[in-house]
Amino acid sequence: MNPMQTETVHVPLGDRSYNVRIGEGLIEAAAAEFAPVLDRPRVAVLTDETVAEAHLERLKTGLGSIEVTSLALPPGEATKSWAALERTVEWMLAEKIERRDVLIALGGGVIGDLGGFAAAILRRGIRYVQIPTSLLAQVDSSVGGKTAINSPAGKNLIGAFHQPALVLADISVLNTLTKRDFLAGYGEVVKYGLLGDAAFFEWLETNGPALAAGDAAMRAYAVRRSVEMKAEIVARDETEQGDRALLNLGHTFCHALEAATGYSDRLLHGEGVAIGCALAFELSSRLGFCAQEDPSRVRAHLKAMGMKTDLSDIPGELPDAEALVDLMGQDKKVIDGQLRFIMARGIGETYVTSDVPREAVVTLLADALKSK
Ligand code: GLY
Repeated sequence: MNPMQTETVHVPLGDRSYNVRIGEGLIEAAAAEFAPVLDRPRVAVLTDETVAEAHLERLKTGLGSIEVTSLALPPGEATKSWAALERTVEWMLAEKIERRDVLIALGGGVIGDLGGFAAAILRRGIRYVQIPTSLLAQVDSSVGGKTAINSPAGKNLIGAFHQPALVLADISVLNTLTKRDFLAGYGEVVKYGLLGDAAFFEWLETNGPALAAGDAAMRAYAVRRSVEMKAEIVARDETEQGDRALLNLGHTFCHALEAATGYSDRLLHGEGVAIGCALAFELSSRLGFCAQEDPSRVRAHLKAMGMKTDLSDIPGELPDAEALVDLMGQDKKVIDGQLRFIMARGIGETYVTSDVPREAVVTLLADALKSK
C-alpha cells in the first residue's frame, strides 16, 4: 500500500490563519512540519503522563535537533484546573520560554485546552501547536482556538479564544486508543454529519464500522471532513456570536448529563454528545421541525456502531427530568436566562433557536428516563 498522502485543511482567519495537517507519520516528521512556525530551534512540550509514555519519545526523535523541554501532568479532567495552569505557566517561565517561542500541546482535549490557555496568557500570548492524540481532539477541540480550564462553578468557564499556529493530526496515534475512547470521539464525527452534511452522515452509515475497525484511509477522510466543516464554521464565526453554536449540537443535553454523572467515566464527553444528538433529533421531531424517521436513523447508526445511544446506556441513577433541565441552565449558551437549542430540520440541516418550550424538554427527558 502507498503511504498515505498528508492532507492540509486551512483555517482562514486573517493574521490568525493556520493549517491543520492530517496524515500518518506526522510526529516522526515533526522537524520538517515545525520549520515554518519556529523562530529558534527550541520548544516546550506539555503533555500528560499516559500520552508521554506512548508518544513523547517519538516526538522528541521527530523533532531531531530542536531542543525540547517537557512537562507531563497527571491524565484526566482534573488537570484542567487553576493549579495545573499555574504549574504550566511557572514551568514555562522557569524554562525561559520567550514570547517568540512555541508551546506544543501533545495530548487529548484536556492538554489541548489547558496548553492553549497557558499559551494565551504567558507573556501576554505565545504561539502554540496542537498535536491531538485522541479522535475527539483531532476532530474538534484542537481546531478553533477555544482554550479553557474548569471552575468549581462549571466546565470551561475560564478561558480565552487563542488560535493555534499549526495542528498536526497524526492518524496513527488513533491506533493506541481504547475502543471506548475511539467511539466517544466518533460521537463528535457523527455530529458533523448531522449538523451540516447529510452526504457525510450517509458515508458514515456505510463506512463507520470499517473506520472503527482501523481503516486508516477512512479515518483520515473522516477527520479531514470533520475539520473542514469546523474550519468553515469557525472562519464564519470565530467567537461564537452565531453559527459556531451549531457545533454544539447535542451539547446542551450532554452538559446536563455530564454534570449529573459528576464528569466521571460513567459518561465520556463524546458519549454524551452522541446521546445528546439523538435527543436533539427526537425533540426536533416531536416539535414537528423534522420527520419522524430522522431520530430513528440517528439512533440506528449509533447502535450499529455499538455506541451509547439512550439514557438507559448510562450506568447508575440519573436525576429526574426537571433536575436535568435545571442542569442545562448552567450552560454557557444560556442568554438572558433563555436556553438555546440546536434543532434539526432534517439530517444535515440544523439551526439555533431559543424557541423550545421547557415543558417539551421535560417531557422528552421524562419519557427517555422511563425506559431506563
Ligand atoms: N467544540 C465547539 C466549538 O469549538 O465551538
